[in-house]
Amino acid sequence: MNSLSPRPGMAQPEPVTPSARGLHVITWGCQMNVYDSERMSDVLRPLGYRAVGTPDAADMIILNTCHIRDRAAEKVFSELGRLRLVKEERATRGMNTVLAVAGCVAQAEGREILARAPYVDIVLGPQTYHRLPEMVARAARAAGAVIETDFPVEQKFDFLPAERVAPAGGAAFLTIQEGCDKFCSFCVVPYTRGAESSRPAAAVLAEARRLAAAGVREITLLGQNVNAYHGEGPDGGTWGLARLARVLADEVGIERIRYTTSHPRDMEDDLIAAHGDLPQLMPFLHLPVQSGSDRVLAAMNRGHTADEYRVLVDRLRSARPDLALSSDFIVGHPGETDADFADTMRLIRDIGFAQAYSFKYSSRPGTPAAGAGAQVPEDVKDARLQELQAILRVQQDTFNDATVGRVTPVLFTGRGRKPGQISGKSPWLQAVNVEGPDSLIGRVANVDIRHTYTNSLGGVLTEETDRA
Ligand code: SAH
Ligand code: SF4
Ligand code: F3S
Repeated sequence: MNSLSPRPGMAQPEPVTPSARGLHVITWGCQMNVYDSERMSDVLRPLGYRAVGTPDAADMIILNTCHIRDRAAEKVFSELGRLRLVKEERATRGMNTVLAVAGCVAQAEGREILARAPYVDIVLGPQTYHRLPEMVARAARAAGAVIETDFPVEQKFDFLPAERVAPAGGAAFLTIQEGCDKFCSFCVVPYTRGAESSRPAAAVLAEARRLAAAGVREITLLGQNVNAYHGEGPDGGTWGLARLARVLADEVGIERIRYTTSHPRDMEDDLIAAHGDLPQLMPFLHLPVQSGSDRVLAAMNRGHTADEYRVLVDRLRSARPDLALSSDFIVGHPGETDADFADTMRLIRDIGFAQAYSFKYSSRPGTPAAGAGAQVPEDVKDARLQELQAILRVQQDTFNDATVGRVTPVLFTGRGRKPGQISGKSPWLQAVNVEGPDSLIGRVANVDIRHTYTNSLGGVLTEETDRA
């Protein structure tokens, strides 16, 4: 649930036949938005929409937005300004462009979007995109914009097409749980995504089977609190995440399973055990802690202490000794003192993270922390963030350096940046680039890791490469 940079277009651009219409989706925010963008494309496919690489070739542009921090919304408005020019330029060529804003900014600020950007045709929240075809039809008829930001009683998943265009490269996201009832003091997600709900296990397994049949080897199960998953089982009982992962591994045959984002409070015993005895569960876990201070954790409403987190990590590492951890941190939550921040630094030193995302606290309208006193000054937040990122950088480099000289199975997901290179992911989610043939894309091959760079590793393919 991290990077806010726009992500590359979802599906590969396809040739647009005369009857087809061009669709361009720009995605911000977390992996769930990536999944949602793919599914929006699936929903629009029967209407003739096909992915195109640039907005000016698109009859419909969807901006799938994120509301997690304030700059996120500002980026949306500046992107809209740019897309307005595209729309106007296309109009001079006699072409209509449907401009839609989806995702969490749409949910939280739908009316404001229409006020500030009246050239937007459709505003839709994350729980209504199964109704997109109907909205497109209404937008064509209507004089004004169409806005759908309620939380419908029907679950969108029941209305999405069974067919899913599997992403190229052998790795796919699969949303199994959505929404959040935890109401951390700082967070908009419970308001933008709604109440927590889990998809039935049978629906998840069916989607996973289709992905596997399309060549997908690695599935990342997604949820705002993915380990709170409690889906209805085909046997009538309730399945937790551990049970689901076991069936995906043993019966569906998924070679690599990941899940994100998990909450420390929902890390049940059977899930910890699964890390020990399910080799398909990758040895990398994103487990956000936010702070190492008990005072701040309580103010954040996280529901655990720093020591409880330490114990949890110990238990996970006993189950799976090569497990690497990643986390999210917020500095400058209201009320955070120098001593609190020192506690966070201590926790980081104690645990040792392979990777991390860290943010300055950003006040979000309508959240409990926004109204709290003792907001931390910006320059203090800046200084703390720098200090925190410096130690996390060292830890990440140390972790990456330790993989040099090891032979590591890599799932190749696409071409590398340099010609002749292919790029993939290690079990620890490190980006790995090697010289290699395109025929390995979508497959797992062994790589002898030789070099580390800032955010990636380099190596050479070994002899006994292919497990395909
Ligand atoms: N469900 C996940 C987090 C989802 S949001 C969890 O509970 O851990 C992704 C990350 O964004 C959070 O972990 C947090 O570090 C960061 N974040 C969320 N709201 C924020 C805010 N108001 N200011 C700064 N960072 C925030
Ligand atoms: Fe936000 Fe907290 Fe829910 Fe995570 S658990 S999505 S941080 S409210
Ligand atoms: Fe952003 Fe919504 Fe995801 S606010 S992080 S896109 S759940």
